[in-house]
Amino acid sequence: MALMPTTAPQASRVAIIGAGNVGSTLGQRILEKNIADVILLDIEAGRPQGLALDLMEARGVEDHDRTIMGTADYADTHGADVIVITAGLSRKPGMSRDDLLKVNAQIITEVTRKAIAQSPQAVLIVVTNPLDVMTYLAWQASGLPPERVVGMAGVLDAARFETFIALELKVSIANVNAMVLGGHGDLMVPLPRYSTVSGIPITELMDAQTIERLIERTRNGGAEIVSLMQAGSAYFAPASSACLMVESILFNRSRILPAAAYLQGQYDLSDLFLGVPTCLNRQGVTQVLELDLREDDYQALHHSARSVRQNIETAQALLASAS
Ligand code: NAI
Ligand code: 2OP
Repeated sequence: MALMPTTAPQASRVAIIGAGNVGSTLGQRILEKNIADVILLDIEAGRPQGLALDLMEARGVEDHDRTIMGTADYADTHGADVIVITAGLSRKPGMSRDDLLKVNAQIITEVTRKAIAQSPQAVLIVVTNPLDVMTYLAWQASGLPPERVVGMAGVLDAARFETFIALELKVSIANVNAMVLGGHGDLMVPLPRYSTVSGIPITELMDAQTIERLIERTRNGGAEIVSLMQAGSAYFAPASSACLMVESILFNRSRILPAAAYLQGQYDLSDLFLGVPTCLNRQGVTQVLELDLREDDYQALHHSARSVRQNIETAQALLASAS
């Protein structure tokens, strides 16, 4: 019997710039959840091509028809609906924070320009650290309206907080919902009052000391994994977090997710990207939700914002001195 030709609907395309641990794991997640076709780009010769072939060969077992290609050529990313940037270096021995800031600022600026030139209609998700600073630089390099640029960190930080809450209370993670604001790092602002188990704020389920312990572990979530692994940093939960954002954008789900969004007066902050609750759909960030904050949380958010702003200024000065 002759097989009937089928005309599959045009698949969405996600370009992932940086085929390291986060980028390649994100590619795998997107394919195996049947979300989109993937183009994986890296400067390391052969790596994205090898990873893409490996993931294509897994299709027979994973049973999906999504495709992935590996490349070093930006032309292959043409027409991507979403671009995720995970390219960058992690801090090496002997490297100062400013050295890392400078290197990643240069990388993020270069790769954003090249990727957006191929896909000017895309929504851009930034993953590279330091996250809030790199998201700002990527926005500047992209020339996109701010709502089409967003940084991934809040989903990850909230997922970590949710994990620790579920473990502590011995309840299903499915019933836990946490909210974390602020920059991705030591100064993030987990919000116990807005973190719930089946709608019940955790402040009614745990004493203040226990909550503080879980918050501290959340703040150190990335560092705890680095100290265990010694080389490299977390990538499974970061890839899952970025994947959730890709899915909310491509499937136009309008999920409310904490993410680094451009602030224009919300929380009395302007002209920076910082972690806040966002509504994320095919248009990008369509809304920043303003929570009613307690005075100490408001002050903590502003403290975090000052640190991000200072690093943006340092990064801009380093970029200017390099050009
Ligand atoms: P990795 O070192 O495994 O991968 C980075 C990749 O970027 C490498 O394959 C490298 O060849 C590539 N790359 C470097 N320069 C490039 C360029 N100019 N063009 C294209 N590719 C380039 O690192 P990993 O673990 O994948 O992390 C990636 C970034 O994401 C790091 O900055 C890390 O700190 C950050 N990160 C952020 C998280 C967040 O919550 N926002 C969570 C986890 C990681
Ligand atoms: C993390 O939080 C390294 O930012 C990364 O795991």
